[in-house]
Amino acid sequence: MSLTLQRSDLLRSTHYVGGRWCEALGGARYDVEDPALARVFANAPDGDARDAAAALEAAHAALPAWRAVPARDRSRLLLRWNALVLEHREDLGRLISREQGKPLAEAIGEIAYAASYVEWFAGEAARITGDVIAAPVAGRQMLAVKEPVGVIAAISPWNFPAAMIARKIAPALAAGCTVVAKPAEDTPLTALALVALAEEAGVPPGVLNLVTASRANAASVVDVWLADARVRKLTFTGSTPVGRHLARGCADTLKKLSLELGGNAPFIVFDDADLDAAVDGLMAAKFRNAGQTCVCPNRVYVHDAVHDAFVRKLVARVAALKVAPATDPQAQIGPLINAKAVEKVDRHVQDALSKGATLATGGKRLPELGPNFYQPTVLTDVSNDMDFACEETFGPVVPVFRFADEDAVVAEANGTPYGLASYFYTRDVRRIARLASALESGLVGINEGAVASEAAPFGGIKASGYGREGSRHGLDEYMHFKYLCQGGLG
Ligand code: SIN
Repeated sequence: MSLTLQRSDLLRSTHYVGGRWCEALGGARYDVEDPALARVFANAPDGDARDAAAALEAAHAALPAWRAVPARDRSRLLLRWNALVLEHREDLGRLISREQGKPLAEAIGEIAYAASYVEWFAGEAARITGDVIAAPVAGRQMLAVKEPVGVIAAISPWNFPAAMIARKIAPALAAGCTVVAKPAEDTPLTALALVALAEEAGVPPGVLNLVTASRANAASVVDVWLADARVRKLTFTGSTPVGRHLARGCADTLKKLSLELGGNAPFIVFDDADLDAAVDGLMAAKFRNAGQTCVCPNRVYVHDAVHDAFVRKLVARVAALKVAPATDPQAQIGPLINAKAVEKVDRHVQDALSKGATLATGGKRLPELGPNFYQPTVLTDVSNDMDFACEETFGPVVPVFRFADEDAVVAEANGTPYGLASYFYTRDVRRIARLASALESGLVGINEGAVASEAAPFGGIKASGYGREGSRHGLDEYMHFKYLCQGGLG
């Protein structure tokens, strides 16, 4: 593999199952592409049902001993993992940049974000409690204790190759669960390196198992975990259609589920907003990871009275963004993940232009940089019959709608099957209270574009899924209550 790391042993190229680094049982491998060049630079084991089954056996066998480890010791282990992840943030950042494409500074920032979940859940592990319930009859003691759910299957996406898997594995281990995990086929290397550091931190064999697979084999891995009743919970971040398929697959064995799915976030700027702050917020929310985040604004609504001023400020900022490969220290926007992603972004832009939108800036591919680069784009004069109004673009495109009326814009904002994030900017405290309640989404940014935090419950409603990651609630997703009723004490 052509990638130099300070610690070359973080470049892992095999599965991790039962505490052993091993090839896929069928011996197959698949190619991993650098999205900046759209060229193969590495390969990974192409696992299938046999590898999934072996990982599950290992996780199941390791469960009794791991759940018996005192929570405080699990917490200490997570703190060691957190320290190692932070110590090697440069190497891990390089892996992300190479396989996912985001600029190095942003990739290193993602490592800090990933580590924050590990540190957070180390803290939560040390504070697991239950309830002592006032018994309604004499001579009884009633307790509600929390127990780990069991074996967890974690399926993570390519857009945040470190943070998304960390915020699944860390709470699972904190709760006393064991894990079988599959990272996205585009980004296996960061996940493997994180697992290598977890092993170094002292995670016992079998507690954490990671299997990689090509797009063609992904379903054969996941199907084994869906069908097996020993997997007690599935956690997935990705698209809504895949989430629905997984939920159906979990129905027979009635697994607990966390699904963090697609979004179509509205971003509303009222006429009393601080426009500079609103532009800052939009830039932060929209252009993080080149617009490839589930929470990034997909529809921007700007009040008539400030529309032109806002668009002027926005266009100046967007046009100044530096698009470049991750290796360029000035890069702010990297490539999109693959050709399919570029085609979708371009389809949305061309569809809007064909239906009367005005191109304020951008709107073109950048083949001189590489096949997957696309200009940051602002479109005005947009309308609801355009593709991005009902479909997540997942790229660096900002469509700006005009509005005049609060009730109407709230109805527009909510007029989507999705409900992950919403944002609005206003100085009116009564309006803040009204919109905070009226917007149908799991997260609401109020005069703030950067909402993600390990301390907050992250997740959606409606077609954006259910379950929460981060915060104290993120640990509960990996535990269940057991009610203990002891009689004869009178
Ligand atoms: C996502 O895009 O799925 C997650 C983004 C975040 O954690 O902020």
